[in-house]
Order: sequence, then structure tokens, then C-alpha cells
Amino acid sequence: MKVAIMGYGVVGSGVAEVIGKNAEVIAKKTGILPELSHILDIRDFPGDPFASFLTKEFADILEDDETGIVVETMGGLEPAFTFVSACLERGKHVVTSNKELVAKKGDVLLALAEKHNVNFLFEASVGGGIPIIRPLIRCLAGNRIQEIAGILNGTTNFILTKMIMEDMDFADALALAQKKGYAEKDPTADVAGIDACRKICILASLAFGTHIYPDGVPTKGITDVTLDDVKAAAAAGYVIKLIASAKQLENGRLALRVSPTLVKKESMLAGVNGVFNACLVRGDAVGDVLLYGQGAGKLATASAVVGDVIDCAAHDSARIRFGWSKAEDGVLEAPGAVPTVLFARLKNADKAAVAAALPGASCLDGENGETLVITAQAPAGALEEALAEFHPVTVLPVAAY
Ligand code: HSE
Repeated sequence: MKVAIMGYGVVGSGVAEVIGKNAEVIAKKTGILPELSHILDIRDFPGDPFASFLTKEFADILEDDETGIVVETMGGLEPAFTFVSACLERGKHVVTSNKELVAKKGDVLLALAEKHNVNFLFEASVGGGIPIIRPLIRCLAGNRIQEIAGILNGTTNFILTKMIMEDMDFADALALAQKKGYAEKDPTADVAGIDACRKICILASLAFGTHIYPDGVPTKGITDVTLDDVKAAAAAGYVIKLIASAKQLENGRLALRVSPTLVKKESMLAGVNGVFNACLVRGDAVGDVLLYGQGAGKLATASAVVGDVIDCAAHDSARIRFGWSKAEDGVLEAPGAVPTVLFARLKNADKAAVAAALPGASCLDGENGETLVITAQAPAGALEEALAEFHPVTVLPVAAY
């Protein structure tokens, strides 16, 4: 079965490279020899080793009956959604690395794939090269998933690591992440937490079986994190990581959030540095599972795409089911009602007043007369209101893992 690629950027060119250099190894292991048919891109790539496959016409892929699998690595919602829909309707399997497409249209595209008896696979859309979607839907299928928490954006983890360990400033670290091909075309999606939000929505939709749209998820990126925050967190025994989380509460509703978060120094997530991602999955039978690997980058992400391509070829006439249905109202808990622990940096605070306003909170002395507060667990809205009286410099959630 022949494979076409739509979008010859960082990931698309990585897919061509991996297929080009590993085809024989793949064939030996799986009995499937992936063969390229076309590469769609509006740009010219003179002298490129795959130049003979390049086309600017989508119809060359759509109309080619020998092309049974289409890889979408264009990114963005359009024209990706239109092209992917057309391929599924033509009975072609589709593999994508496009987080935005899956997070916003996953339910629609899976329904379309089902209607046309083909597969729509998206392992590369979360965690780059880390196998996370397949383990979640297959290996952990016997569990009720209770919680998922992850470092799901390689660019921001790379930036935070460079800032903390090498004292590099934010702009230089971002420029380096862009040069290495980790960042999105518009890196605002990385630093503002939007990319991590799309990814946790995909995982939560799979884990809890109902489409969760990114718009409903409170999302904060890393742009406001200062070195003083990092030092204050360290003084309290924590590191700051951009954590994307999804949890089923006791009342059955879901709490999703993306935020710079204090993670205990001893936590496995605290040691995840650079472009690496990690995702903690808590199941009622298995307990905690941690999946770890390179979360972004050309070949790491291509590895996940090629795995899906092989799965499509192996399941040409069978469908891989996800149990991901349409969005339902009332699934998400109101953010202010979610039980939370908060960390705050307060200037010149009266500790007795803090203790009175926030029962159960612990206070310790920070630098320059600051008081560092870790609250007891309570609804986030009530804690934020109580802390507001003290005009905090910074307020961040504290993770329980
Ligand atoms: N920009 C994304 C990241 C790419 O940095 O994680 C991988 O999805």
C-alpha cells in the first residue's frame, strides 16, 4: 500500500526520511513495506532527495487509487480538515500529527472514518515520539482512568529547563527551540499553553470517552513565570513545570487545566527536562504509569507517524476503535469549584492574618521578606479570593503527584 504525505515541513520531511531509511527494517519486522507515492506542499524544495514525489495538487493524492494511506502533517485546521475529510470519504486511511485538528474535530473525523470503514490515527498528536494514545486505548483499556497529568509541550519544557539550568533568557531559549524544530509555526501556541491544552483535550477525550473542546479548559502558559518564582518554588521544595491535567472528580465531573504548576522535587515529573515530555496516567487497576520520551522534533514525531502508517496497513480492513463520542454538556466542573492546593508569594504579609484567612495553610519565609504560602486543599475560587486580600506576587497550583 502506498503512502502520501500532505505537508513537507519538519514532521512531514521526517516521515519521508524515516520511511526512506528504515523501509527494509520495517518490512522485516512487520511484513509491511511502506512506499511513498506523493508529497503535497505548495513550496518548492530544489535539490531535495524526495523532490520526485513532490506535487502542489491535492487531487494527485485524492485521485490516486494506489495511495491507500495519507499522512497529514500540514498543521492548522484548514485546509487540513477539508483534505483529511475528503481522503476518509474516498476510503483512504489517514494518519495525522496535527493536534489542533484532532482536538477540535476528532469526534467528527472518527465518525467519518467509521462511516467509510477506514482508520483515522493520531499517535503523533500527543507527546511527539512517546507511545501514549495506543497504551491509553489498548493496554489500559481495562481501567477506569482517574487522572492524567503531563508535561506535554516540548518547547516550553525546553525553555524552562534552559532558563533554570543555564540562566538563558526566555527569548534566546525560544529562538533555540524554534531552530531545533520543536516550536509551532506560531510559537504563541506553545508558550501560551494552547498546544498543551489541545493535547490534554485529546487524552481526556480518549480516557473519558466524550469530546472535550480546548475552549472550555482554563489555560495559562509560561510567559509570566519569573526566575524569582522558580527560586521561591525551589525554596519550598518544588520545581515549576507546565502541567496539563485531567481528572475525574468524586461527583463524576471532569477537571481539566493547563498551568505552570509546582511539582515536588522528588516527583518523577520534576526530573523531565529539555524537549522531553512525560505523561502520568492513573488507572483504578494499574495504579500509576509514566510514559516518557522526546515530545517534539522531526524524527521523534515521525517515529509515531510511521507506527500509525504501519498499523493502518496492518488493519486495512479492520477498524481501530477509540470510544470517543460527541461532546456532552455539563461534563466539565466549574474551575472555581475544583479542589485545589495553591502556592503564593506574598510581600510583607501578616502570617497570623494569612493563617486566619486560609485555614490549614503552611507559611515559610522566602527571600526579601516574602512569605511563601502553600494552602490546604479547597475549591480554587475560594482560595483565590482569600489570597487576593494579600495582593500576591504569584499564585500557582501545586500538584499532588
Ligand atoms: N510544538 C510542539 C511541542 C510540537 O513543542 O511540544 C510537538 O507537538
